[in-house]
Amino acid sequence: MLTSEQQATYQRDGYLVLPNFKSPEAMQVLRQRAGDIVDAFIPPASKTIFTTNDQVRLIDRYFLDSAVNTSCFFEEEAFGPDGELRQAKALSINKIGHAMHDLDPVFSDFSRGPELQQIARGLGLAQPEIWQSMYIFKQPGIGGEVGWHQDATFFETTPISVTTFWFALEDATVHNGCLWTQPGAHRSPLRERFVRHGDQVTMQKLDATPWPGSITAMPLEVEAGTLVVFHGLLPHYSAPNRSSASRHAYTLHVTDAAALYSSANWIQRGADMPVRGF
Ligand code: FE2
Repeated sequence: MLTSEQQATYQRDGYLVLPNFKSPEAMQVLRQRAGDIVDAFIPPASKTIFTTNDQVRLIDRYFLDSAVNTSCFFEEEAFGPDGELRQAKALSINKIGHAMHDLDPVFSDFSRGPELQQIARGLGLAQPEIWQSMYIFKQPGIGGEVGWHQDATFFETTPISVTTFWFALEDATVHNGCLWTQPGAHRSPLRERFVRHGDQVTMQKLDATPWPGSITAMPLEVEAGTLVVFHGLLPHYSAPNRSSASRHAYTLHVTDAAALYSSANWIQRGADMPVRGF
C-alpha cells in the first residue's frame, strides 16, 4: 500500500521509485522464461527483412499481430551489412511483446497480485486494466536508444489514465541505458498520438512543447528489483547501451476502465481475449 507521502511524491514528480519490490527469485524465473521464449523463436529469413516494401508490410503485420500474441523483435543494430546476425540470437533481441501477461502463466504471475493492485489503486486507477507487456533486453553493445516520448501517446484514454509499471530486472545505470526523465514534466501536454487505421499506424503531432533537454533531464538509476511507476504524460528516454552489461526490464501499461479507451489505439481486445486487471 502506498503511503500518503508516496502518493504526494507521485503527484509532484509524475513517478515513484519502489526499491526491492521484486525478489531475486521472482526475477530469475521471469528471466529464464524470457530466455526460453527467445530460444524457441525462429527468426524469419534475415537477408531481405528490412529491404523491400513487401517486407516492410510484413513487418507492420508482425507488429500489429503482436498486440495479442508473444513476439520477439530484433535490436536495430543486430544485423550486419550481409543481413546476418552479428552475434548470437539471445544477444540480438530488443524485446518480447506484447501480450505475455495474459498468454504465459509465468508472465501472468509476475504481472499480477494484490500488491500491484493496491499500488494501482493508490495511484488513482479505480479499475486497472493491463493492455501491454514488454520484456526489454537492452542488449550489451547494441541496445537501442528509445527516444523521448510519453506513454499516453500509445494508450489514449479520456481522461488520460495510462500508467506505466517498469520493473528493473537488472541494475539500470547511465552506462547501460537507464531511464531518463524530468521530474514534474507530467504536467506538460500530450505531444503525439499513435493511431491505427485498419492495418496502418501513424504518428500524429499534437503539440510542439519541446522535450526535456540535457540540463533538465535526469537519469533514473535503480537497482534490480525496483519498480518504477510513472504517469502516462511523463516524458522519458533511454540512451543506447554501449556497455558490456545488459539492462533487462519488464513493463506493463495499465489504464483505468473508468476512462474511455480510444478505439484508435493500436492495441484492442475482443471478447475472445478480454483485457484484465491485476
Ligand atoms: Fe515508454
